[in-house]
Amino acid sequence: MTHHSVRLVALCAGLVAVSACYAGRVRKPAQVTPVNVALGDSLFNTGACQRCHGKGGVGGQNAPALDGKKWLQLKSGSFDEIVKVISEGVAKEDIKDASHRFAMRARGGPMNLTDAQVEAVAAYVWSLSHK
Ligand code: HEC
Repeated sequence: MTHHSVRLVALCAGLVAVSACYAGRVRKPAQVTPVNVALGDSLFNTGACQRCHGKGGVGGQNAPALDGKKWLQLKSGSFDEIVKVISEGVAKEDIKDASHRFAMRARGGPMNLTDAQVEAVAAYVWSLSHK
């Protein structure tokens, strides 16, 4: 091996290590902007969400914490899954923990969230589990 190719091999090994390092981290979804997170925070913490999930999503009597330590409905806690559950709600028969007695209504029920508001609330909820 020439001097030159040895250096090339070392460079590639370095690059592999760097990309493996990035692969281990969850990339922040494009929708998780400071503006969306702030709007989502105010919607969540003044609207129906906090009545069941607690202020800051810490969990309450009727709904689980949203800190991502353990998901009941979501599989990976991805942004798309969060959007879906907020858009569709959770029917009573789909509730996993029987201590949660009330269905979660679609789009925050009376909040009647628009698509843009669902996205903002989802950005806030995503940020709660990716601190
Ligand atoms: C009437 C109470 C209630 C309200 C209001 C409510 N939720 Fe829920 N939420 C639930 C219940 C119940 C579940 C399912 C828990 C279970 O399966 O035991 C749930 C599940 C979730 C999940 C999935 C959690 C997991 O562990 O997989 C997310 C995210 C969520 N809610 C966000 C919201 C947001 C955002 C709002 C406001 C727009 C909201 N919820 C309003 C009761 C509520």
